[in-house]
Amino acid sequence: MSDDPHGLDRGLTNYGDRDFARFLRRSFARSMGISPGLLNKPVVGIAMTPSGFNNCHRSMPELVEAVSRGVLAAGALPRPFPTVSLGEVFLNPTSMMYRNLMAMDTEEMIGAQPMDAVVLIGGCDKTVPAQLMGAASADLPAVQLVTGPMSTGRHRGQRLGACTDCRGFWAKYRAGTVDAEEIAEVEGRLSVTAGTCAVMGTASTMACITEALGMSLPGTAAIPAVHSDRLVAAEESGRAAVRLIETKIRPSQVITRKSVENAIRVLMALSGSTNAIVHLTAIAGRLGIRIPPERFNQISDETPVLVDLKPVGQGYMEDFHAAGGMGALLRELKPLLHLDTVDIEGRTLAERLEEPAGWIDRAVIRPVSEPVSPLGGLVSLSGSLAPDGAIFKRAAATPALFETEGRAVVFTGLEDLSARIDDPELDVKAGDILVLQNAGPHAAGMPEAGYLPIPKKLAQAGVKDMVRISDARMSGTAFGSIVLHVAPEAAIGGPLAAVRDGDRIRLSIREKRIDLLVAPEEIARRMQGFQPPPAPKRGYKALYRRTVTQAPDGCDFDFLASGSPNR
Ligand code: FES
Repeated sequence: MSDDPHGLDRGLTNYGDRDFARFLRRSFARSMGISPGLLNKPVVGIAMTPSGFNNCHRSMPELVEAVSRGVLAAGALPRPFPTVSLGEVFLNPTSMMYRNLMAMDTEEMIGAQPMDAVVLIGGCDKTVPAQLMGAASADLPAVQLVTGPMSTGRHRGQRLGACTDCRGFWAKYRAGTVDAEEIAEVEGRLSVTAGTCAVMGTASTMACITEALGMSLPGTAAIPAVHSDRLVAAEESGRAAVRLIETKIRPSQVITRKSVENAIRVLMALSGSTNAIVHLTAIAGRLGIRIPPERFNQISDETPVLVDLKPVGQGYMEDFHAAGGMGALLRELKPLLHLDTVDIEGRTLAERLEEPAGWIDRAVIRPVSEPVSPLGGLVSLSGSLAPDGAIFKRAAATPALFETEGRAVVFTGLEDLSARIDDPELDVKAGDILVLQNAGPHAAGMPEAGYLPIPKKLAQAGVKDMVRISDARMSGTAFGSIVLHVAPEAAIGGPLAAVRDGDRIRLSIREKRIDLLVAPEEIARRMQGFQPPPAPKRGYKALYRRTVTQAPDGCDFDFLASGSPNR
């Protein structure tokens, strides 16, 4: 141990008298019933995120207890502390707006409180990205632990899991093939245990790419929330944090360009959530790492989809865990990965993959020779409608719509969408392209509104998919031929703002382009006198509007992104 202050002596409160500050801190710590011997030990902070508004973190108390057990057993003092918690479906207008708030909270509380290492416990969609963004900037030794995925429920003999099946049943209810009585039954059977959504949605994708980055312990990403091994993983994460105090391996040594590229490979092979691109960009951006769209597409074109889980395939996260989990997937991807990256244990990926593979269920984790799809799940687009980029999840789309030219049906915002989408008088037909404006980061905090519903009259006529375009995001559990994250967004004057009903739009996945087939002079004419939507005047929302970046920059705050670690 160096002579630098450690444990409770770190970062003493400023009273102008260091000895008094130390005396006072120890005295107050003793009021918590901690013995004097333990007060001299190194300290591991535990960033905990329980909330009555976060069902995905229901198991937080037992996870905190298990991490604490591991920390104590390894000879350090555990100190749990709360931060903001973000329960995806309980936040208005969208959890995305509060990811950066949680990241700031996490970074500042790691830096302001006396700890030598930290275990971050998150799970629900935005929580793990926020914790990793904060940890990357704080750059204190850190271990990420996830709450783990939910187990599935049952309905009339069918396995159900949040939230791909939520959308599937809701679409059937809208189309009239499921009645009100059955949808009420389904409501109680979709989310039946603690943990995060049961499919390869954003939370599961982030858990897997966190392990690929090396920021969590090997083999822990997919353990179900209610499995006893989840508690063992928590205990081991506590022990690992104590080891980190000695090895001093920091997030900036683990999250590197190479490990970010490995994470993108894994994202492609999982056919993971489009949201993970924004989050990974933001995490990498905290350390000045940027992966250009061309490299992203190169990785996508080289990396087959190997994991057969919903929303793209059939299985659930509990199947992925039982099939061999991340270890099996990483072994399959080995020839494509950078093997000299190090994880929080200081092990290279090559060393990890030398261990025996164990049994692998090839129905869930395919060999490269028999992929679910030969190409990666996600494509970065550009073109006259999205000069700074857009994202398309080809693995979750209808191949017949990959090369589409169609007539635009435009909704000017979220209220317009909900007011008119089911209007029997709406001028829309199969083959049209639905366009949603003003749902980007500045306009609306970038909600998961990109999965525009199929207009009811078309759904009832049997239309299952249409090309849909917006500056919004889409839930990782959703599916369809959907162009997302259009940048620049409409609210800051991007070409998306210029689209009018009846315009022709062309999507080409082969050429990786999305184009508005309107003359540039006409677009310029339409944009004369453009006015952005009114900005909030006070508080966090005003800060958000002033400083949030566009999707290709991770939607981080401009004053937090890039640059070197500050501690
Ligand atoms: Fe929390 Fe889906 S609602 S992960």
